[in-house]
Parts: sequence; C-alpha cells; structure tokens
Amino acid sequence: MNLRDVAKLLRTRWITVGVTAMVVVLGAVAYTLLTTPLYQASTRLFVSATSGGSSVSDLYQGNLFSQQRVLSYAELLNGETVAQRTIDKLGLDMSAETLRSRIKATAKPDTVLIDVEVLDESPVRARDIANTLSDEFVGLVNELETPKAGDQPNARVVVEQRASIPSKPVVPNPVRNIALGLGLGLLVGVGLAVLRDLLDNTVKSPESLEDITDSSIVGHIPTDKGLRKTPAISFATDNSAAAEAFRKLRTNLQFLSVDNPPRLIVVTSSSPGEGKSTTSINIALALAEADHNVLLVDGDLRRPSLAKYLDLVGQVGFSSVLSGAATLDDVLQPTKFPRLTVLTAGEIPPNPSELLGSLSARKLLNELRARFDYVIVDSSPLLAVTDGAVLAAGADGALVVARFGETKRDQLAHAVGTLKDVDASLLGAVFTMMPTRGSGSYSYNYYSHGQTYGDSTPGKQSDKSSSPRHKVDSSATEFHKESRPK
Ligand SMILES: Nc1ncnc2c1ncn2[C@@H]1O[C@H](COP(=O)(O)OP(=O)(O)O)[C@@H](O)[C@H]1O
Ligand SMILES: [Mg+2]
Repeated sequence: MNLRDVAKLLRTRWITVGVTAMVVVLGAVAYTLLTTPLYQASTRLFVSATSGGSSVSDLYQGNLFSQQRVLSYAELLNGETVAQRTIDKLGLDMSAETLRSRIKATAKPDTVLIDVEVLDESPVRARDIANTLSDEFVGLVNELETPKAGDQPNARVVVEQRASIPSKPVVPNPVRNIALGLGLGLLVGVGLAVLRDLLDNTVKSPESLEDITDSSIVGHIPTDKGLRKTPAISFATDNSAAAEAFRKLRTNLQFLSVDNPPRLIVVTSSSPGEGKSTTSINIALALAEADHNVLLVDGDLRRPSLAKYLDLVGQVGFSSVLSGAATLDDVLQPTKFPRLTVLTAGEIPPNPSELLGSLSARKLLNELRARFDYVIVDSSPLLAVTDGAVLAAGADGALVVARFGETKRDQLAHAVGTLKDVDASLLGAVFTMMPTRGSGSYSYNYYSHGQTYGDSTPGKQSDKSSSPRHKVDSSATEFHKESRPK
C-alpha cells in the first residue's frame, strides 16, 4: 500500500475515520467529566547540617552531609510515620496507606531541596495536608537527628515554601484528554478503514470488473438519484451525466461485432437490486433515441418490474403469449416514448425457467428480433435462478451489470461462469451506480479510462488536451477493436 492508496482509502472511507474519531473523542469527554477532580498543593523543604564550624572545609562537609540526607528524607516523607502523624493532627478520615498514595516527595539531585506534592479532592484540604505533613516532618527530623536528648540535632529541615490553595485541579486535564482521544480515535479510525478495505470484496474499480468478467466495460453509469423516482430517462430533453452515459453505452453497443451486430440483448447480473431493470430501460430508450425501433422485454418472470417502472399494464405479457392465453399483438404495448415498445412479463408462471427454455420462447424471441431493430431483455439475477442464463443462451449476447461497491467479486465471477456454461456470448460489462464524487467516482474512472485507451494508441497523445467527450469516443473505437471476434 503506497501513499496514494492510503489517500484514496481515506477519501473513500472518511466516514469510518470521522465517526470513529468522534466516538473516541466523546469517550474522552465523558471520561473527563466523570473523573473526580484532584487538586495539588506543594511545599518545598530545605535541609541543612547544623554541626561543624565556619571554615570552607566545614561548610563543604556540611553541604555534602545535607545532600546525602536529602535522599533518606524523601523516603521518610513518603513513609507511613509522617502520614499517620498528619492524619492524627488533622483528624482525617483516611488510612495512612491512602494518604501515602497521594503524597509524592522528590529530592532534587545535587541540592538540599525536597519537593512535596499532595493530591486531594478538596483544594483546601490539599493545602492543609501539604503544610501539616511538612511541619510534622520537621518535627520528625528533629527527633531522629538528635542522638541524645538535650543535644543539638545534626541536621535541620526548614519549610522553605508553604503550600497555598490550588486554584485549578490537575486531574482531569481536558485539553490533554481530548487531544489524546482525537489522536487515538484517528489512529483506530484509520485502522478500521484499512480493515474494512481488506474485508471489502465488492467490485470497485473498472480494472477489476474487466478482470473478473474477462470482457470490456461498455458502460459506466453514474448514480443518479432521479433514476430512483423515474427509472426512465427522457432522452429528448435530458443531458444529465446518466443520459450521456447511456448514449455512450449505445455507441459502444453499435460498435460490437460490426459484421454481425447483436440485436437481441439480455441484460443480467449476479444478484437482485444491481440495476438490471433500470439499465435495460435506458439502453432501450437510448437506442430508440437514435431512430431504432426497440422492444423492451421483461424476462424477469419472477419479480417483474418493467410494468411498474414504466407505468404499464402488467397483467398480460410474455408469459401470456407463451401459454397461449394471448397473441403477441395483443400484448405489445406502445409507450409514451417514440419507437419504444414494451412486452411486460405477464402473470407470474409457476415454472419460469422451463417456460423461458422452451422452444416457443425461442421462437417468440426470434420473431421479435425480426420485427424490431433491437430487442432488449431484462432478466432475473443469475445466482438465484437459471432464467437469465437460459435467456442469454438464446440471445445474441448478454450484458452483465455490476453495481459499484455492492456487487461481490466472487458472486460476479460465479455469474459470469454461469453464462459461460450455457455458451452465452458475453458482450460486455456495465458498471452502474458509480459514485459521482471521490476517487472511485464516475468521472475519475471514466476519463482515466479514456486516457488509458487513448495513450496506448500511437499518435493519440495530442488528444490529451481535447474534450473529454472526444477521449471517450476514442475509447469506444478502441473498445470496438478489442472486442471484435477473433
Ligand atoms: N444509475 C442509478 N442511479 C441511482 N439509482 C439507481 C441506478 N440504477 C438503478 N438504481 C436503483 O437501484 C435499485 C435497483 O435497481 P433495479 O433496476 O430495480 O435493479 P434490478 O433489476 O437488478 O433488481 C432501484 O431502486 C433503482 O432505482
Ligand atoms: Mg429487475
């Protein structure tokens, strides 16, 4: 994984990173709010030797003596005796052990100073404990350093700096906690993003789609919210990215096997909800826009959706003709779109695979093929049932639809395998519901793709600065060259 992969990952998974960071920061805030504030009061003690004269060497000796004492004194300050005496003096309701855990005495190296820090929930009590503790310690040293009663002590401790009431608690530290939370959250977020990426087995790049299907991509369809409400694009007036994408798809289709162009085309995919019906409708409409007479057939006899998507009568249709309940002319429905006729699914039969595999179905489709310039057949998902494969076997070819970030790689491979098993010809793949923003986005892949094809052609280098449209068209031509029957 190089830096660009990481940047791409962060762009596509920024929500994961953001949400994780936010959760951890909120955790840090909650922790901060729930932590009992602790105040710290501190005193400073000064140790001096009292014995000896006033000569330089005496002073030196005295100083050395004090420095050696300082370490032991710090130990004593952390010890139980002083703690207990302080508790007794202040009448505190805590054990010596508890108080000891809140006292920290440190000897400054090479000096005769000891710093004492006391933590407590109450700022006033923190001050009182620190001061009393220091006073008690002065007394204790006096006792310990006086070998014989009445003698002068060998060393003396003075409280050089007394404690005052702390104004701010030292624990919790909100800034530090939140900064730590943010850092940790981002780290965990990136970790999760990487993990999700590693576990993601959906199709997310045109390259992998081409690899898995072992065919070329004939269409990159962007996500268009409008298509959810109105699945049919009004090509006469619409110039949206989705409309343009279907026009390019149409161009690419017309370049497929020029000697024997496919006219009976089955649109299929591995699973439900990948955009087969929406794609079929708009391929048909795009072809109709280019002055072709087009028939759109609902070959999904289990969950038909064309009648619903196009506001047509769904009770009679494909299955009615196959069962002999109606004649073809009775069920072909003209639409409000010029040159587009639709054959809906009709009543849902109990045995769709059998029906679609029957000789009458083949005959019917061939008859339709003769009547129209193009017959586009919507179908059932390949992984669920054999219907799609059966239809594709009898057609000129199949287009396999893959939905960006949703279609599973292994399922797609399996679906393509199903088509191969029945010797259906795979015309190409349609990458649909591509994101319109971000690195995986429609335009990014689209143009970079055109560029790749363009670049591989000598003399096309100057095309780099030309309009995207031109590049795409050149990619269509390249596509045509590549996908010609060998
Ligand atoms: N290009 C697109 N942009 C946005 N939504 C789409 C697009 N293509 C399909 N959809 C939506 O995806 C859902 C499934 O599409 P559909 O065509 O019914 O899939 P299938 O026929 O494979 O089950 C529908 O809600 C449809 O509106
Ligand atoms: Mg469908």
